[in-house]
Amino acid sequence: MRHLHTRTTRRRVVGALAAGLLCTTGLMTPAFAAPAQEPASPTLADGLALTPPMGFNNWNSTHCRAEFNEDMVKGIADLFVDKGLKEAGYQYVNLDDCWALPSRDANGKLVPDPVRFPGGIKAVADYVHAKGLKLGIYTSAGTKTCNSAGFPGALGHEYSDAQQFADWGVDYLKYDNCNNQGVDAKLRYTTMRDALKATGRPIVYSICEWGENKPWEWASDVGHLWRTTGDISDSWGSMLSILKQNLPLAPHAGPGHWNDPDMLEVGNGGMTDTEYRSHFSMWSIMAAPLLIGSDLRKASAATFDILDNREVIAVDQDPLGKQGTVLSSEGGRWVVAKEMKDGSRAVALFNETGSAQRIATTAQAVGLPEADAYTLRDLWRHKGYNTAGTISATVPAHGTVLVRVSVDPQWAKNPPAVELGLDGSPLVEAGRTASLTSTVTDLGRTPAKRVSVTLSGPEGWTVAATSPTGTGTVPTGHALRTQWQVTAPAGAATGSYDLTLKASYRSPTGVRAESVLPLKASVVVAPPSGVSSLGDLPWLSTTNGWGPVERNTSNGESAAGDGHPITLGGVAYTKGLGVHAESAVEYYTGKACETVTADVGVDDEKGAKGTVAFEIWADGTKVASTGVLTNAMPAQPITADVTGAQVVRLVVTDGGDGIDSDHADWADAKLSC
Ligand code: GLA
Repeated sequence: MRHLHTRTTRRRVVGALAAGLLCTTGLMTPAFAAPAQEPASPTLADGLALTPPMGFNNWNSTHCRAEFNEDMVKGIADLFVDKGLKEAGYQYVNLDDCWALPSRDANGKLVPDPVRFPGGIKAVADYVHAKGLKLGIYTSAGTKTCNSAGFPGALGHEYSDAQQFADWGVDYLKYDNCNNQGVDAKLRYTTMRDALKATGRPIVYSICEWGENKPWEWASDVGHLWRTTGDISDSWGSMLSILKQNLPLAPHAGPGHWNDPDMLEVGNGGMTDTEYRSHFSMWSIMAAPLLIGSDLRKASAATFDILDNREVIAVDQDPLGKQGTVLSSEGGRWVVAKEMKDGSRAVALFNETGSAQRIATTAQAVGLPEADAYTLRDLWRHKGYNTAGTISATVPAHGTVLVRVSVDPQWAKNPPAVELGLDGSPLVEAGRTASLTSTVTDLGRTPAKRVSVTLSGPEGWTVAATSPTGTGTVPTGHALRTQWQVTAPAGAATGSYDLTLKASYRSPTGVRAESVLPLKASVVVAPPSGVSSLGDLPWLSTTNGWGPVERNTSNGESAAGDGHPITLGGVAYTKGLGVHAESAVEYYTGKACETVTADVGVDDEKGAKGTVAFEIWADGTKVASTGVLTNAMPAQPITADVTGAQVVRLVVTDGGDGIDSDHADWADAKLSC
C-alpha cells in the first residue's frame, strides 16, 4: 500500500531537540574523493532541461482537494511574477493528478474537469504563457492515473494524448506509473517519448516510475528527469529517507537528464524552517528539479525567503550540471560537495542528528587546488569570508551550512571565517549548573581582531562567564576559549531551551563581522535506578517518519494514540515503543545506566510489507545494531552496553528502500541503571 492515496493527515512530532555533546577533536580530513565521472550516456538532443527544471506543482499542497483549480494555477503564475520567483528561475506551473474527468469523450479525447477548469486547459496555458511562464500537465503510463477516482491514463493512447497536450500548449509532462498492467516500463516510457517528439512541440518529459526499474540506468535518452524514489511527504523522516536514496545516484545526472527525488515540501508546515532550509540546500546540491510544492498564496515570508535564495538556486542551476557527491557521512555528519562550472565547489555540511554537531572538511578534500587562502561564501547568510583551507562549522540539529568555496585572488578583502563551538553537555537538572566552554576559532588566513563572545540563555537562567570573553587577536588556527556556568532555575520544566552564542570581531583592515550559533540546552531528570520500561520513561526528543512515536502500542501513522498492541511474529507485547522509520528516540541516561534490551522487528499489522534496521547509540557511538529486518521475520533480541553514556538514542532506518510500511517496534524495551 502506498501511503499517499490513503492518507490525508500526516503529522510528525519532534520533541525537545537536545543539543548533545559537541565534538571538539582535531580537524577531520577526509581523504580526497574524486567526483564520480558521469558515464557517457546518450541524451535527448532537444536542448531541453539543460539545467534542472524549476517551477511549481500542486500535488504536495492540495492532492485532489477542490482548491486545486484554475484559480490556484493562475494565482501561482501571478505570484511567480509578482514575488520575483520568475526572475529567480521558476518557470513551469504544473498540474498534477485530478485535472481531468474520469471518462474520455466520444472521440477518445481527455476532458478537463469543468468544475476545476471551467475555461479548459488551453485557457490556463494561454494565461500562464502570457506571463512568460510554461504549463505542465500529468497523466499515467497506465490505463488509469493513481487516484482512486480512476482518471484516464495514456497507455494505448500515447500519440493522441500527447497531441492533445501539444494542442493545448503544454510544455511539460509528468508521466506516472499506476495501473500499468505489467507492461514493460522501458517500453511504456519510450512510447510516450516518441509520441511527444512526434508532436513537434518542445515538451519536458518527467518520468515518474518511483525508481522501480532503475531508470537512471536506461532513461537518459528517454526522459529529461526521472523520479528515483517513492513519494515524499511533509516530514523530516520522509525527506531524509529520500535524500539518502538519491545521493548515491550522482554519477547518472547531467544536463538534460536529472535524478528527481520528488517535489519540494518547503512551506507545507510539517518541518521547521531549519529543516526546510536543509531540504532546499540538499535538493540544490543534488541538482534536483526545484518544483515548489506549497500553496504560495498562503506562504509565509520565511517560505519565500527560502525558495527565493538565489545563491542556493545558483548551486542547483549551475550549467556544468553535476550532482554533488558524498565525501563523508559518519555519525550523521554529512559533507556533500558539488563541482561548479567556474571551478568553485558548493559544500553542504548537513547535520542529520537531533543535536548540534561539528562538521568539517577542507578545500583540498572538496577538490580545490592548493592555495594560500580561499574565499568562502555562506549561501544562507549571504556573506563572504576568507579561509586558510578549513571548511567547518557547528551545525544545529537538522541544519545545513551551505557554502561556496573558490580560489580567489581577492580573498583578502573578506574578514576571516570563524567557527563557533560549545563544549560540554548542555543537559542540566533543574536548579543545577552545567559547565560549558565556548570556542571562537579563526579559520581564516588573516587574524581575527578585537574578538568578543557572548552566551545568552532564556529568562530566569543564569549564564556567567568565569574566564575572559574577549581578546585583541586570534591568529589563524587558534581559538578564544571561554568558560561558562549555565544554571537552570529551580523548578524549570523538563524540555528544550534556547541558548545563543555570538562572536563579533574585525578583520585586520577593520571590517566588522559577526557570527551567531543557535543552540539548545535541555532540562532533564535523572533516570530511575533499577530496570525501567522505556515505553514509560520520559524521553529527551523524538523524530518519526509518520505520526508520533507511540508508548506501549505500535505506530498508527497519524494522530497520537492511534496504534495497536505491539505484535511481532504473532507475539503480543504490552510494553515498548511503536515507531515509524526514519525514527530516533533519545533518553537522558546521565552516565548512570548500563544496558538497553528489547525485542525488535516490523509490526505484524503491515502484512507482508516493511523493511527496517535498528540501531542503539551511546552518545556518538553505535553500540548495537540489527541487519535489515522484514515483516516476515520473528522478533529479534537486541542488547546494548550503554555504560557511561549521557544520552542513549534508539534509531530505526528504512533498510535502504524508503519508509513505506516501515512500522517498527521496540517491544519490551528496557533500560537498566
Ligand atoms: C503518484 C505520484 C505522485 C502524484 C500522485 C498523484 O503517487 O508519485 O507524485 O503524482 O501519484 O495521484
